[in-house]
Amino acid sequence: MRRAGIAALGAYAPAHILSNAALERLVDTTDQWITSRTGIKERRIAASDEASSDLAVQAVRDLARRFPQFDPGALDLILCATATPDTLFPATASLVQHRVSATRAAACDIGAGCTGFVYALALASGMVQAGSAQQVLVLGAETLSRIVDWQDRATCVLFGDGAGAALVAPVERGGFLSFVLGSDGSGASDLCLPAGGSRQPASPHTLQERLHYLRMNGREVFKFAVPALEQSTRQALSHAGLALPDLDLLVPHQANVRILQAAADRLGLPMERVVVNVERYGNTSSASIPLALVEALDQGRLKSGQRAVLAGFGAGLTWGAALVEWSW
Ligand SMILES: CC(C)(COP(=O)(O)OP(=O)(O)OC[C@H]1O[C@@H](n2cnc3c(N)ncnc32)[C@H](O)[C@@H]1OP(=O)(O)O)[C@@H](O)C(=O)NCCC(=O)NCCS
Repeated sequence: MRRAGIAALGAYAPAHILSNAALERLVDTTDQWITSRTGIKERRIAASDEASSDLAVQAVRDLARRFPQFDPGALDLILCATATPDTLFPATASLVQHRVSATRAAACDIGAGCTGFVYALALASGMVQAGSAQQVLVLGAETLSRIVDWQDRATCVLFGDGAGAALVAPVERGGFLSFVLGSDGSGASDLCLPAGGSRQPASPHTLQERLHYLRMNGREVFKFAVPALEQSTRQALSHAGLALPDLDLLVPHQANVRILQAAADRLGLPMERVVVNVERYGNTSSASIPLALVEALDQGRLKSGQRAVLAGFGAGLTWGAALVEWSW
C-alpha cells in the first residue's frame, strides 16, 4: 500500500493579542495564577468580523506561500476539524472550499474536540493510502473566544483562536507510520457546550443559564489528559515497531504546560524534545498541533528522516496520536 504524509503546512493566528495583564482587568484573576497553573502568558483573539473559516483561509494562504506548487484545483477533499464552526451547517470546510477555489474537492467538518486535527489526519491518510483521494487538505480552525464564558475565570483564561492547514498526499519515503485514535464518551460532560444542539436548542432559558458557553471540569480533564497523552504516544510508537528512543520530537496539543510536563515526565522524555508554545497562544483546540508543528519546522527542530508524534486529547473525551517520519 502506498504511504501518505504531510506534503505542506501552514498556520495563522489573529493579530490581536490578549495578555494575562489585560485579563486581570476582565475577571478576578492574576498573571501569577494563570502562569503558574497553565504556563499561558497570552492568547490571540479573532477580530469581530473573523470567523473560523476566515482563519482557515489565512492558514491555507500561508501554506500556499510556503509551498508554491500547491494547487487548490487538484484537491479531492477538505476536512476541517473544528469545535467552533461558523455555523452548525453548512460545514466550515465547504465555506473554505469555495473561498480557496477548490472546485473539485468534497468537504466536511470533523468534530472530535481538541483531537480533531489528529482524527482528520488519520482519515485523510487512510483515503490517500487506499487510493480514494490523491490530495486532502486537513484544516484545524477555531474561534474559541466566541464560546468561552468571559465571566468564568476558570475557563476564559485558557483558550485562544487560530488555524492550521496540512496537505496530505502520497510520499515516496517516510510519511505516516501509525495512528492511534480513541474515545470515551463517559466523560462527555467534563468538557462540553451544553446548548445550541438538538439536546437543548437555543431558548430564553438556555441563554439565561449561559448554556451556550463552554463548560469544563478542569480537574477531571487534567487527570484524563496526562495518561491519554502518555499512552497514545507509546502506542503510536509500538504500532510501528518503535520505542521512545526512536522519537525525535513530540508535538502535543497545547492545553496546559503542566499537562505536557507531566506526560513528558512519565514518558522519560526531556522537554527539549517536546514542542511547547502554549505560553503565546493558549489552548487553540484543533489548531494547536499545526501551529506548534509549523513553529517547530521554522525553528529547524524537525528535519527530513526524523520522527515526530503529533498527539491530541480533548472533548469527547477523545485522544489520538500520529507517528510521522518527516520527509522534507
Ligand atoms: C483549569 C486548571 C488550570 C485549574 O488548575 P487547578 O490547579 O486544577 O486549579 P483548581 O481547579 O484546583 O482551582 C484552584 C482555585 O483557583 C481558582 N481559580 C480558577 N480559575 C482561576 C483564575 N483564572 N484565576 C484565579 N483563580 C482561579 C478556583 O476558583 C479555585 O479556588 P478555590 O480553591 O478557592 O475553590 C487545570 O485543572 C487544568 O488545566 N485542567 C485541564 C484543562 C484543559 O486542559 N482543558 C482542555 C483540554 S483539551
